[in-house]
Amino acid sequence: MKTLLTETDLKKGISKMAAQIEEAYAGRQLTIVGILTGSIVLMADLIRLIELPTRVGVIEASSYRGATTERGELTINSELLIDIEGRDVLLVDDIFDTGHTITRVIQKLEELGPTSVKSAVLLHKRERQEVEYTPDYAAFHIPNEFVVGYGLDYEDMYRNLPFLAVLEDSDLKKHADLVGQKSQA
Ligand code: IMP
Ligand code: MG
Repeated sequence: MKTLLTETDLKKGISKMAAQIEEAYAGRQLTIVGILTGSIVLMADLIRLIELPTRVGVIEASSYRGATTERGELTINSELLIDIEGRDVLLVDDIFDTGHTITRVIQKLEELGPTSVKSAVLLHKRERQEVEYTPDYAAFHIPNEFVVGYGLDYEDMYRNLPFLAVLEDSDLKKHADLVGQKSQA
């Protein structure tokens, strides 16, 4: 795997984004909503960096069913979400790729009567954008490559890598061997 962003790079970019958010919402209370599952690592870091009275919630969106390029149908599940009516919401996701996930989740949130909804992502692949919307905060802009680590997965693996890496062809072969392994009872 080729490292695109090291732990140090990530820390710097996320701290900078947290400071921007803190400044924008100064004196207000914030409701931070993470999109499961890709946002979990960023959420854990971001919520500890933002020194504001903060409520934390999650919403589930799934589409990428394992494939690296083709997109499955998007399903949004708001059953786990906390009450956002009359709240300033900051939606957090790992990556803004085509933009369909974030814009669809925002539509869903808007139905629940928040005062405002803004978005923050770790990564923005600008070349792939297919919607008018642009995230309010993005820690990094990256080229059009499939990346894993720091919450981002390939077939549900690699989310735990503390750095961001590009998945190369040679990794896919190793991956195929790995995913076949299930623990023996
Ligand atoms: P979008 O709807 O096209 O913006 O896609 C957003 C979702 O696709 C993210 O939340 C990720 O789960 C997934 N995704 C897009 N690009 C990548 C990538 O390079 N690596 C891993 N997941 C990705
Ligand atoms: Mg994913």
